Amino acid sequence: MDVELRVAGSADAARREAAELLAEQAARGGHVAVSGGSTPGPAYELAARLEPDWSRTELWFADERCVAPTDDRANYRLVRERLLDRLERPPAAEHRVRGELAAGRAANEYDAELRGVALDLVLLGIGSDGHTASLFPNDAALGEEERRAVAVPRADVERVTMTLPVLREAAAIAFLATGRDKADAVRRAFGGSESPATPASLVRSAAGITYAFLDREAAVGLRV
Ligand code: 6PG
Repeated sequence: MDVELRVAGSADAARREAAELLAEQAARGGHVAVSGGSTPGPAYELAARLEPDWSRTELWFADERCVAPTDDRANYRLVRERLLDRLERPPAAEHRVRGELAAGRAANEYDAELRGVALDLVLLGIGSDGHTASLFPNDAALGEEERRAVAVPRADVERVTMTLPVLREAAAIAFLATGRDKADAVRRAFGGSESPATPASLVRSAAGITYAFLDREAAVGLRV
């Protein structure tokens, strides 16, 4: 399953391409999953400007930290501030991971909520260690083949993450990664073989398309 590499001349240009894809999907409608992190914020703001009507979509979260939605670590708070609060018409449904609950309970709820749902688009980031969503290197969650969401114990804060099956069933996956600090993870994710040491290398749309929106800095280790 190859990846459609889109190397832009700058981080802003990479974020604009991701924003355009989000806006196009929002205009079409469907199930859209987003991620947290520091990279996608400006892309969410631009997507809201490009397409302020998300009433035909249902919004999902690729992962969430097990904190209150108002906690500054919450992906929901990031998405609310950078996307949802900037829309004229909100999504028809916001499927928030209830991070205020215990991780196991929140994961069970999300797993049930995701049953029967095929995502139309998932926006994912890549950590410098090669993680994506909250699928971390060599983590047990990578072996989950049935559940659609699981709890992920972590030293800093517990998380809930979508699993490989639900990500792979998405019609379109869009990675967004910028900056030289991501170059090694990007090389391992898109320039090498699949490995649980680099979870992003395992995430590809099985029957659809997988994009990687990168700037030159992040793509420096790829032969493109
Ligand atoms: C999260 C994200 C996570 C993120 C990567 C990249 O919960 O933080 O879902 O998977 O996408 O860590 O984060 P940056 O964009 O901040 O590099």
